[in-house]
Amino acid sequence: MKKPNTIENNPLKSIEDWEKDLLKRYPDPADHNKSKEAYRNYEDGDRHDTVKEFYRLNHQYQSYDFVLEKEKEFLSFNKKEMGFWEAVDFLNTLVDDSDPDTDLDQLQHLLQTSEAIRADGHPDWFVLTGFIHDFGKVLCLFGEPQWAVVGDTFPVGCQFSDKIVFPEFFDLNPDSQNPELNTKYGIYSPNCGLDQVKMSWGHDEYLFQMVKDYLPEEALYMIRYHSFYAQHKENAYDHLLNDHDKAMFEWVKKFNPYDLYSKVPTPPDAKALRPYYEDLVAKYLPSVLKF
Ligand SMILES: [Fe+2]
Ligand SMILES: [Fe+2]
Repeated sequence: MKKPNTIENNPLKSIEDWEKDLLKRYPDPADHNKSKEAYRNYEDGDRHDTVKEFYRLNHQYQSYDFVLEKEKEFLSFNKKEMGFWEAVDFLNTLVDDSDPDTDLDQLQHLLQTSEAIRADGHPDWFVLTGFIHDFGKVLCLFGEPQWAVVGDTFPVGCQFSDKIVFPEFFDLNPDSQNPELNTKYGIYSPNCGLDQVKMSWGHDEYLFQMVKDYLPEEALYMIRYHSFYAQHKENAYDHLLNDHDKAMFEWVKKFNPYDLYSKVPTPPDAKALRPYYEDLVAKYLPSVLKF
């Protein structure tokens, strides 16, 4: 089912609106003013409606079959080959001038995340993870609708948890009517491990599949599950995780505040930081990435 790339299909003024909404759901426990600050210039009611519509589309169309279809479409990585920095420039074309609150481009969000991780003295692969974690958003530039790129992710193939934001919209998902897919375990078995579980399609899974041979497992968990809020914030799918997943989710939880709360008033100096990141990228990733 290919949905046309229309405003109706892309209700958010900017894909960052999803992250801003996350800040409202999960405000920074350390600094409430900072979270409020992220909302300045914002018509709260306006955004609430577009975010709600975004989730309606996401929950309606992210079915098990949809995920299979997207895997077939994107996981052969035959769309485009780009050098790393070329890919950064490409990702940075994803800016929306119509949004008065989009004060950071994609590179700046990535650098703020990675620099906050670096400042806390974490290992270099953790810094690199912060730097690349949203690279999968290039899917938007391949014409994918917002609801198939960003948004909270969740397992498909089993019952949708009511801990997922706007759970009522799952009534519109065909899988909710499918007796094989709408039970607690669906096609899975108790504590089968997340590697057996298909997640809703988006920038997380796409990037994970792209870099899975190059980074430590902790980094791969952070990349693959950073939008799985129903688990890393709500523990709604403990019955599918195995013990190894549970241990690895400590890293996902460690990563999350850097993603959500690392906005600083002064944007990072991308030019000055580039040599450090050039070395870091060269240490772990191939010179050409396949998208
Ligand atoms: Fe993300
Ligand atoms: Fe992010």
